[in-house]
Amino acid sequence: MSSDPQQTPATFRFEPHAAPVAANERAQRLVDPGFGRVFTDHMAMIRYSDAEGWHNARITARAPLTLDPASSVLHYAQEIFEGMKAYRLADGGTALFRPEANARRFNRSAQRMAMPDLPEALFLESVERLVATDRDWIPESDGGALYLRPFMFASEVFLGVKPSSEYLFMVIASSVGAYFKGGSPAVSIWVSQHFTRAAPGGTGEAKCGGNYAASLLAQSEAIRQGCDQVVFLDAAERRWVEELGGMNVFFVFDDGSMATPPLNGTILPGITRDSILTLARAEGLMVREEPYAIDQWRSDAQSGRLVEAFACGTAAVVTPIGQVVSPEGRFTIGDGGPGARTQAIRTQLVAIQRGQAPDPHGWVKRLD
Ligand code: PLP
Ligand code: COI
Repeated sequence: MSSDPQQTPATFRFEPHAAPVAANERAQRLVDPGFGRVFTDHMAMIRYSDAEGWHNARITARAPLTLDPASSVLHYAQEIFEGMKAYRLADGGTALFRPEANARRFNRSAQRMAMPDLPEALFLESVERLVATDRDWIPESDGGALYLRPFMFASEVFLGVKPSSEYLFMVIASSVGAYFKGGSPAVSIWVSQHFTRAAPGGTGEAKCGGNYAASLLAQSEAIRQGCDQVVFLDAAERRWVEELGGMNVFFVFDDGSMATPPLNGTILPGITRDSILTLARAEGLMVREEPYAIDQWRSDAQSGRLVEAFACGTAAVVTPIGQVVSPEGRFTIGDGGPGARTQAIRTQLVAIQRGQAPDPHGWVKRLD
């Protein structure tokens, strides 16, 4: 094995599952898979050590891991992940959407968490090999996709607080339908009062598990308040709208312009966000990346200046926001249902992702 961490292992071993799920059982699981509960037969795995670099790459049967209880991820949460989807195309082929962007963001997260870079080619090869192996798990249903979850965690057996000298990179795949139950026509969101998600200098722009752990109490509060999701305000002034627990946010105004919070280090640079910005600007629409205050949101919704708002992300795609709830009361956006612009953006994006519309930006990576 090489001691150069940038060198990719020459080959992936393929260890097929000895007893994969039978076709009729798989078909049943794919009828209404929900989100994140139905998993495919295989997974990708690559090990890293400071001494050997990336090595032992394989596609193997999906199975539980054996971890030493002193594995450092279990104590200090040195873990990052990605979320992306493989789509079934109209002609039966399969495609990924902007996978290179996920590979790049994965390495930015790795740098922030003092983890080794994973060569982009290796990230992409892991994902592509897994999709090729388990392509029969992509649901045929409208809105269905294979959600891919690449992740990396610290596996050194050591309780000292320092960057691990060993890591495991893996990709698992989950057959999914809509993220929100019933495909929610519009979601309601709770404005977190006491909890923030990320502070300047923190890990907000990294996709690390700890950010999500920190969001769970606020998300539970949102559910208690009868809402679907939580929206976070900035940590310094508790005034500026940042993002939802797992989605970016956009605002649509009555003059046809749109706005979204800027990438200031505390929010995740969403690939869906970037795609929407690019598509809207290519059409000549005015889209501002600028801070937007929660009080402004309320008064703009009440005056009618704000006509729509939506959340966006790989899992949620484009989801209209109908109601915003806080201790000051509740306000409704538009008529509380999906707005025309939100629906048009969703339709346009989904059509590109599924190969049903031209792909002027070269975002769709066809696999077969
Ligand atoms: N913000 C957070 C906190 C997320 O977890 C996600 C989902 O990945 C997003 C935004 C949207 O990012 P993307 O569009 O790349 O999926
Ligand atoms: C995604 O959209 O991929 C996310 O990561 C959001 C959530 C499922 C964590």
